[in-house]
Amino acid sequence: MQINPKIIKKQFEKSMEKYNDNAVVQNITAQKLVQNLIKINQNFENVLELGCGTGLLTKELIENINYKKYYANDLVEKSKQYLSEISPEFTFICGNAQKIKTSQKMDLIISNAMFQWFSSLDKLREHLTNILNKDGILAFSTFSPENYKEIRKLCGLSLEYKTLDELKEIFSDNFEILYTEEFKYTMQFSNPLELLAHMKNTGVNSLSIKHRNFKAIKEFCDSYKSAYPDLTLTYSPIIVICKKIA
Ligand SMILES: C[S@@+](CC[C@H](N)C(=O)[O-])C[C@H]1O[C@@H](n2cnc3c(N)ncnc32)[C@H](O)[C@@H]1O
Repeated sequence: MQINPKIIKKQFEKSMEKYNDNAVVQNITAQKLVQNLIKINQNFENVLELGCGTGLLTKELIENINYKKYYANDLVEKSKQYLSEISPEFTFICGNAQKIKTSQKMDLIISNAMFQWFSSLDKLREHLTNILNKDGILAFSTFSPENYKEIRKLCGLSLEYKTLDELKEIFSDNFEILYTEEFKYTMQFSNPLELLAHMKNTGVNSLSIKHRNFKAIKEFCDSYKSAYPDLTLTYSPIIVICKKIA
């Protein structure tokens, strides 16, 4: 699947209003990220959050760590408004996380449910390594190839999710892996349209179905019901916390 930041931006912009009510799994990963981060360190000078969205992770994080300066990034300018309701003081950096420049090096870079949107994690790792202080922490959650396996089987559409082993290999070039976790979370819906709406409201429009005309939607709903009569959708999150060593 092609990953186009302009399309991602549009999808997320549209989903923001309903995102928090639908982001059940993203809420769990935000909590897990913070719970496990604070076992490692609770005090940071410069913090950078990538893909902050509506601030699910931001809220959890700023309540649980001590920091001097908080930088928040997202492709979507409107994120700034959401964050200003959560945090009294922060610097918003709008744009592609893979290219952002910071005036200082960071002590913590953190991101929830966003790394799956990058076509090259190697490039992202290189960029983040450059803006992180030595011994700085990188903490993120993403998803493994089992994520939305039902959609992939039915529509053949999927992001190029990495396995935990692949992620460890990518990041171990510059980082010592301190903590990893992977788990499954199954959501159940009362009908396939509800499931499509759930995906759309978490910003995953383009994965739902190729053509969004009435006939294609009906076909999708019928085949989903027959392949997955329980109307379940699988999430498979991964959490990684690592320390810059080189
Ligand atoms: C699933 S949402 C997660 C939002 C938030 N981190 C949370 O905990 O709920 C993914 C967010 O990443 C942002 N995003 C995706 N690709 C990005 C990129 N290349 N650079 C910056 N932000 C990006 C989207 O705009 C969206 O707000």
